[in-house]
Amino acid sequence: MRIVSILSLLLTASLSAQTIDDRVEALLKTMTLEEKVGQLCQYVPDQDEWFDAMPRGLAGSVFGTPGAERSNDMQRIAIAGSRLRIPVLVGHDVIHGYKTIFPIPLAIASSWDPKLAELSARVAAREARAAGIRWTFAPMIDIARDPRWGRVAEGAGEDPYLSSLMAAAYVRGFQGDLGPQSVLATAKHFVAYGAPEGGRDYGPAEISEATLREVYLPPYRAAVDAGVASIMSAFDSVNGVPSSANRRLMTGVLRGEWKFRGFVDSDFAAVEQLINHGIAGTKEEAAIKAITAGVDIDMVDATYQTLVAAVRDHRLQEFVVDDAVRRVLRAKFAVCLFDDPYTDETLAAKVWLTKEHREAARRVAQRSIVLLKNQGAVLPLSKSGTVAVFGELADSKEDMLGSWAGEGRAEDAISALEGIRNAAGNGARILFAKGSDDAIAKEADVIIAVLGETREMSGEAASRSSLDLPGTQEQLLESLVATGKPVVLVVMAGRPLSIAWAATHVPAIVNAWQLGTEGGNALADVLFGDVNPSGRLPITVPRTVGQVPIHYAHLPSGRPASPDDKFTNKYEDVAIGPLYPFGFGLSYTSFAYSNLRIQGMTVSADIRNTGSLTGDEVVQLYIRDVVASVSRPVRELKRFARVTLKPGETKHVEFTLTPRDLEFWSERGWITEPGTFRVWIAPDSEHGLEGTLEWK
Ligand code: NOJ
Repeated sequence: MRIVSILSLLLTASLSAQTIDDRVEALLKTMTLEEKVGQLCQYVPDQDEWFDAMPRGLAGSVFGTPGAERSNDMQRIAIAGSRLRIPVLVGHDVIHGYKTIFPIPLAIASSWDPKLAELSARVAAREARAAGIRWTFAPMIDIARDPRWGRVAEGAGEDPYLSSLMAAAYVRGFQGDLGPQSVLATAKHFVAYGAPEGGRDYGPAEISEATLREVYLPPYRAAVDAGVASIMSAFDSVNGVPSSANRRLMTGVLRGEWKFRGFVDSDFAAVEQLINHGIAGTKEEAAIKAITAGVDIDMVDATYQTLVAAVRDHRLQEFVVDDAVRRVLRAKFAVCLFDDPYTDETLAAKVWLTKEHREAARRVAQRSIVLLKNQGAVLPLSKSGTVAVFGELADSKEDMLGSWAGEGRAEDAISALEGIRNAAGNGARILFAKGSDDAIAKEADVIIAVLGETREMSGEAASRSSLDLPGTQEQLLESLVATGKPVVLVVMAGRPLSIAWAATHVPAIVNAWQLGTEGGNALADVLFGDVNPSGRLPITVPRTVGQVPIHYAHLPSGRPASPDDKFTNKYEDVAIGPLYPFGFGLSYTSFAYSNLRIQGMTVSADIRNTGSLTGDEVVQLYIRDVVASVSRPVRELKRFARVTLKPGETKHVEFTLTPRDLEFWSERGWITEPGTFRVWIAPDSEHGLEGTLEWK
C-alpha cells in the first residue's frame, strides 16, 4: 500500500490538496463566529455544553468512544440537524490497541523494531475505525528519563533517536493512507511533559534550550515530518511557560520552523488550567492566551466558548479564530469525514480481535521481552517435570493489558499462568500459588516468580517514589530463592524496576513489561524457548531510586566516576552506574563483535553468532564528540540494525553517518564542529568496539 502522509496531501500542489484548501475556504466564508468557535470546542458526549452545542452545529469534536451506532447518531445530528452540515470529529485514547491490546509502548520500544510499532498502530486504527473513531490521542512521544514518572509506560523511553523512529512509525501506522482503515494521529504531549520535577506527574520542567532541542523536541520533529495530523499541548510548564500557552514553541518552532500544517489540541482541560498555572485570571484570558499561542482545539473545558465575546469586544482578532478553524476543517476533509461520515455498523464484529490481529499482538509481544539474566542457562525451560508459578500477577489478565488499554477487556487476555499452561500442554506439570507455599515450592523442579506492578501503578497520575517491587513481593522472592530451586523472575511492570537484590541472587530474569492481550502466550513462547528473546532496554534500569535521573547519554564530569577515587562523580553508598544499561538485552545464543572498520563516515563491524541457536542481535552505533565548544554527551545513539544470525553465521553490519548526526544545538542554532569523534559498534550503551572518526 502506498503511504501518503497527510502532510504531503495538504502541502503539495496536487489537485487533492488544492481541493481541500478550496473546500475549507468556501465553507469558512459561510460560517458565523459562533459556528467557527464551535469547531474549536471538544466535548464529552454527556456534558451539559454538549447537549446544547451539538444540535446547533457548535461542537466540532467529541471525546471518548461512542461505538459505531452512537457515532452514526452523532453524525446524523451534526450533519442533518445543523445549518452547515459539518461532521463531528470523534477522538479517543487508542494508545496500544483498541480491542486487541498490544504491549505497552515502552515494551514495543524494547523491540527496537519500528515496523512492529507501525503494525500495532495499523491494527489499532482498523479496530478503532470500526467503532466510529477517526482520531486517536496517540502516540505519546515524550522522552522519559525519570522512571518515577508513571507515563514512562506510554513512550519509547529515554533516547531521542529511538523515540523519533518509533514516533514516525506510529504516525504511519495510525494514519496510513488516511483511507477507511485509518485514524488521525496525535503526537503528545508538546512539550517535555516527560520531564516533570521529581517525576511527579503534571509538574513543571526546567530544561535548557540545548536539551530541549536535542532531546525533547526531535520525536516531535519526526512525527511532523511523518505527517502527523495533530499535536497535543501538554499540562506542564517549561521554564515557567505553561505549554498550552507557549507561543514560541507552538507557533514559532512547530509551525514556523517545522512548517506543521495540522492542528493542535489541548490536553484535557489544559486551557482552563492556565488559571492554576497562574498566567490567566479568567477563563477568557486563558482562552485568548491559548489560541494566540497556537492551541486550536480546547479539550472539554468549554473555555473556548468565551472566544465569541472576546472577538466581539476586540480582545481577540477574528483571523486568529479563522486560522484555527481552517486547520481543523482541513483535517476533517483529509480523513474523508465530509464525504464518508458514517461507519458500517457490522464492521466491528468482523475486525475486532481477529485471528490475524491476535497473531500480530503475539508477535509484537514476543519481540518486546527483554532477557536480563540467564546464569547457568536456566532458560529456556523444558516442557517436562514440575514448574511452580508464584505471584498474584501471574494469574491476572487485567494487569497483562497495562495502562490505557483502550476498550480491551480482561477476559480476552491471556495471563502469564494461562500462557505457561498453554505452552506446557501435557508436557510439564504446572502448579500455582499467589503467595508463598512451601508444599508447591518443594515439588517444583523450577520456580517462576511473576512479580512487579499492577496496571494502575503506572500510566497517568501514577508516579511512584520507589522503584522497588511493591508490597511484600521481594520477601516472597527471597523465600523462593532460599528453597535452593532454580528461580526465574518475570518482571511485569510499566517502568524499569530497581531489582538489585534479584540481579545478584536470582539466576534468570525476564523483563516482560505488560504485554497486552496475547501477553501470556508470548511470555511462554520465550520461557520455553519457542522464541529466542531479542528485546533491548529502551531505558536505563537503576539500582535504586536514589540514582534517578540516570540515563546513558549524560554529560561528562570533570571528575568522572571512579571506584578508586573518592573525589569523583558518584554516590558513596551505591555502586557506580546502572543495574542494566540502555540498549542491553540477552539472547539464548551469544554474539561476538570484531573487525571494526571506519572509512570516512562509514562504520562497520562483523557480528558472529557464537552460540548454538538462531537469534537476533540489535547492533547499535554510538558516537561521542571528543572536543567541542560545549560538553557533549558521553555517548549518543545514532543508528541501529536488527540482524538475524544462524549458529556460526557472521554478518557484516555497516552504518553511514551524515553531518547531521554530528550536529548539536548552540547559541547560533544547529552546528557541526570539525574534529575527532569516538564511535562504538556495540551490543549496548556501555560496551562495544571502539574507534575514532575524523570530521573535517
Ligand atoms: C489526559 C492525558 O494527559 C492525555 O494523554 C489524554 O489523551 C487525555 N487525558 C484524554 O484522555
